[in-house]
Amino acid sequence: MNTAKRRTVIAGNWKMNFTPAEATSFINAVKPLVAGKDNCDIVFCAPYVTIAAAQAAAEGSNIHIGAENVHFAEKGAYTGEVSAKMLRAVGVDYVIVGHSERRQYFAETDYTVNLRTKAALAEGMKVILCLGEVKEQRLAGITNEVVAMQTKLDLADITAAELKNVIIAYEPVWAIGTGLTATPDQAEETIAVIRATLAEIYGEATAETVTIQYGGSMNEKNAAELLAKPDVDGGLIGGASLVPEKFAAIVDAAQ
Ligand code: PGA
Repeated sequence: MNTAKRRTVIAGNWKMNFTPAEATSFINAVKPLVAGKDNCDIVFCAPYVTIAAAQAAAEGSNIHIGAENVHFAEKGAYTGEVSAKMLRAVGVDYVIVGHSERRQYFAETDYTVNLRTKAALAEGMKVILCLGEVKEQRLAGITNEVVAMQTKLDLADITAAELKNVIIAYEPVWAIGTGLTATPDQAEETIAVIRATLAEIYGEATAETVTIQYGGSMNEKNAAELLAKPDVDGGLIGGASLVPEKFAAIVDAAQ
């Protein structure tokens, strides 16, 4: 973390977990554990139907509630999708875009990830933009090329002013939900490649201001070591974001 230059963001991605009642009890349990921990922004991204319950439970606390995806059109014949305008209308200010599970199981591409990112930014939301290599790409030694290309395609036509609302989550796909974690050095090296790519597009000064999280089996045991790296500005957390004590321990590691 480089707290002098960038805001640290610790975000939970609940994925397809928690009914509204479960979200309420989770937020009620985690709220006192993270109260006053203001060295980082704290976000939980929730399934659409649990957002309202999570927001109600989080009201008046330092916890933000976000969504897990957003469509690129304003409205229309897109069965099952939700627009940025709709999310804004219910007070959502953060959204994950381009998660590897969306890319892998729902055929999202860098092109649609870019469109979704633009749509969310146009509504003034903060986007947690996920990218990262799959195992075969790391083994083939092309991780740097892959993340540089994703960074360029996913941010195509996004201005430096809009970039202020973009948080990048570097998530090696082989580390997500597998219990395997990138080593702190691997996370630092690949995030440095992403930051260098941002510098190519936006200039070094702007690149230095972008929060870049690590995601992929971050937990209460490995968080401190990962967050100690100067370029790792927070975490996007799946499994460990479902257990109040584990998530709170990660927030503590970021203080
Ligand atoms: P994980 O998920 O922490 O369970 O690996 C991370 C993510 O998918 O964002």
